[in-house]
Amino acid sequence: MAATVTDLRHRRGEYGIDAPYVPLWMGVAAAAGIGVFFAGSAFSAPAIAIPAGNIGLALLLSLADYVYTSRFGKFDVWADLLRELNLRGDEQVLDLGCGRGAVLLMVAKLLPRGRAVGLDLWKTSDQFGNALAATKRNEELEGVADRVDLQTGDMRTLPFEDRSFDLVLSSLAIHNIPDAVGRASAVDEAVRVLRPGGRILIADINATREYETRLRQRGMTEIRLRPLGPRMWFGGPWVAARLVSARKPD
Ligand SMILES: C[S@@+](CC[C@H](N)C(=O)[O-])C[C@H]1O[C@@H](n2cnc3c(N)ncnc32)[C@H](O)[C@@H]1O
Repeated sequence: MAATVTDLRHRRGEYGIDAPYVPLWMGVAAAAGIGVFFAGSAFSAPAIAIPAGNIGLALLLSLADYVYTSRFGKFDVWADLLRELNLRGDEQVLDLGCGRGAVLLMVAKLLPRGRAVGLDLWKTSDQFGNALAATKRNEELEGVADRVDLQTGDMRTLPFEDRSFDLVLSSLAIHNIPDAVGRASAVDEAVRVLRPGGRILIADINATREYETRLRQRGMTEIRLRPLGPRMWFGGPWVAARLVSARKPD
């Protein structure tokens, strides 16, 4: 039986936190602001206490929003996106920068007769506890190990044949490539391994216009760039993920 949205949202694995140094520094700065607020209040220095307290509080709210998105919002948004694809269940799907499997293992639940391949360099600076072994453990916990393949590799040079996937996904990963040339190579590689008629979905916090332009240069059709809403805000609307989607012509 096909998985429902509720099945997709029900998680048994452990998926960590994205870019963990970001919430760590937010927490440290928030604590410092609140500390200065109390010290300033104790020494009757409202000109210092009030702005420091406001900054501390704002950072605390931003931290809460970041943790919510990384732990819950991201999963809910992707559950909706994957259901909207109306997959048949026998597709070959590739997730670029799959990390601990947040999206990879969700899409695998929709592929009872297909295959979900996750490729990553397993950088712990990009996701807390990131490791091939952690994703393997999650694929067991989610009950999809029979249809998932994990590969260590760089998305700029994919170790796959041309036209071998029906769908290429990437969640919050391509922006981790520091240079525009590298990010363009990742998009080119995604297009190369896609079958004619295949679709690509990239959710990311920046460089999405770059991906859109590159997909157009590569002759992709049905290109769309859209916001993903507050469930994909990493700390506030100033770090909002957007989705770029496209189809490879037949
Ligand atoms: C923020 S994490 C997102 C992981 C997962 N897609 C998710 O949404 O939970 C970014 C991932 O991209 C991976 N990554 C960064 N640069 C990469 C590259 N050049 N090739 C493959 N993976 C890469 C990191 O190791 C990390 O797992």
